[in-house]
Amino acid sequence: MPADYTAEDLAAGRAALLSGWSAGTEPSLVITRTSGALAWDADGREYIDCTSMAWSNNLGGSRPEVVEAAFAQARELSHLRSNFDSVPLLRLAAAMTRTAPGDLKRIGFTLHGSLAVEMAMKLALLNRPASTGPFLALTDAYHGRSLASMGLGWPHTNHAFDRVFPAVLRVPQPYAYRSGRSADAEVDYCVGELRDAIARRASGLPPAFLMEPVQGNGSQLDFPERYYREVRQVCDEHGILLIFDEVQTGFGRTGRMWAAEHYGVTPDLLVFGKGVGGGFPLAGVLASSAMDGFQPGDDALTFGEFPVSLAAGLAALEVLERDNLLQACTEMGKYATDGLLAMAPRHPLIGDIRGPGLLIGIELVRDQRTREPAAAEAAEAERRARDLGVILGTTRYAGLGNVLKIKPPFTITTAQIDRVLDVLDQVLSSIEDR
Ligand SMILES: Cc1ncc(COP(=O)(O)O)c(C=O)c1O
Repeated sequence: MPADYTAEDLAAGRAALLSGWSAGTEPSLVITRTSGALAWDADGREYIDCTSMAWSNNLGGSRPEVVEAAFAQARELSHLRSNFDSVPLLRLAAAMTRTAPGDLKRIGFTLHGSLAVEMAMKLALLNRPASTGPFLALTDAYHGRSLASMGLGWPHTNHAFDRVFPAVLRVPQPYAYRSGRSADAEVDYCVGELRDAIARRASGLPPAFLMEPVQGNGSQLDFPERYYREVRQVCDEHGILLIFDEVQTGFGRTGRMWAAEHYGVTPDLLVFGKGVGGGFPLAGVLASSAMDGFQPGDDALTFGEFPVSLAAGLAALEVLERDNLLQACTEMGKYATDGLLAMAPRHPLIGDIRGPGLLIGIELVRDQRTREPAAAEAAEAERRARDLGVILGTTRYAGLGNVLKIKPPFTITTAQIDRVLDVLDQVLSSIEDR
């Protein structure tokens, strides 16, 4: 497509923006095209995108089947009032609940993960009217940037927005690599803290405990298997609802459709987003059939059930299943992780490598013994890799900021992974050799 803009148009837009990277201190890329695991900028430079554009292009960028389905829907019906139902709404509700674990057989849709988190919070409050205490969340959780969802995670205190944040009590997440405890001792410690928070620190019984099954922004942490079971047990003992925020982990990222399956624990509410729309805005909540749903007016947003996104979601699910992309995710995740493990002994910066699936975190440290976090080095590695045509993720807003993330589309090829590993190898060596 011929460019219908000038460099001056772009500069004027950049100067006007209230938010986005361009408005901050970072040099931004103007991305003009994506396909598979590749992205191109306005100067025609090609990149391998290890962020799936914020972990959303699980099927690859601008996936043709998804784009076609969205266009076809838009031509017929692009918008309708939330008082009416659309065909893609009903079809996707049936299809998604079919994939859901356990008794999570009811579903609500919206357009952003943050609003889906708020939908889950509202459902928890409706279903636990007598629970007047705070929500429970993990210390380095990230649940979004609407006012309520932001209050559950970063930023913590002394932020201009915290005057309106919901009541939240934070409990530590298992992080054995940093605490130095064994995995079992770490689980005991964290579950003990959870019990203590409920018994002694909460102002009343918490309605729900929210957690990301694999914590993304907060250091890309997967937890020991027993932790998930123990958390479920504690919640059941107290009648506290367990909410898994699967905005990042869902739609196959762990190699299973939902991380809940991966860890064998079913939450009462499961929040989804990002990958489910196949690159279009789509999010929502899967809820236990035992729970009450909304009354009219409780959760109707003008564009919440956007037919175009719902049609895209239906096509995305079809492609995921038809092309066996959960298996591709598992295989490519193993291929990349094996490559990283093979390179690790050459790199004093690599402290830990975490998964599962294509949800890979590489924790960088300045010293293997003290494990001093190498946050500046992680930011530099990201910058240098980008100059060499590889877009890596970093953990920026929660945790220590020293984790590089490799979470590409499931359609990434082994040749592209080889290139990513090669670039990472070069970049880490150049920082280590200084
Ligand atoms: C775990 C998690 N929850 C919620 C959100 C918020 O989703 P959105 O940015 O679509 O509002 C994100 C986004 O990064 C996320 O990673």
